Amino acid sequence: MIESAQSHAELLEAFRDAMRHVAATVYAVTARLDGQPYGILATAVNSLSFDPPSLLVCINRTASLHAPLQEADRFAVNVLGLTNRDVARHFMQPSGPDRFAVGEWDDVLGVPVLATAQSSFVCRKVNSHAFGTHTVFIGELLAAHHRHDAAPLTYFDRGYIDISEAPRDGD
Ligand SMILES: Cc1cc2nc3c(=O)[nH]c(=O)nc-3n(C[C@H](O)[C@H](O)[C@H](O)COP(=O)(O)O)c2cc1C
Repeated sequence: MIESAQSHAELLEAFRDAMRHVAATVYAVTARLDGQPYGILATAVNSLSFDPPSLLVCINRTASLHAPLQEADRFAVNVLGLTNRDVARHFMQPSGPDRFAVGEWDDVLGVPVLATAQSSFVCRKVNSHAFGTHTVFIGELLAAHHRHDAAPLTYFDRGYIDISEAPRDGD
């Protein structure tokens, strides 16, 4: 049995270092409330189940999207592709409707959806669970679109990388 002698600070540093080297797909999670669009860049997103088709997103309570998402009935998960680097960069600018000034945004079932995203999922918010600094929002799929020619935008070691050209196992 390994007894951990790590302090809380050491644990956090090890966690941060480890997560820095976990390659993650980049998403723009969006919602609309009272006509106003909201969105943040996120990597803490996952498919949850196929029956029913559902997704989860983990949103920091301090994020500008959090309060609107608590109120909204729907949200969208836009899977960013390599061609969406401009949107990823722009989403790190100060929050507000201006966040949607870059990229081609459509309205799908009342939610902002990036027309050029690799994939997009519009969800009906069905559940949420607060934990620590974040809330996990669960959404059931209402609409899904995928571009077969797309290559994913991947976040790794504090930067964006292209994994589409990486050799496959056996190549
Ligand atoms: C690559 C990357 C991944 C991120 N992933 C998440 C995430 O999964 N959940 C989250 O709440 N914030 C995440 N953030 C932070 C948000 O994008 C955002 O910067 C922060 O919540 C502040 O947003 P605001 O300016 O809209 O309040 C991520 C940021 C980056 C650069």
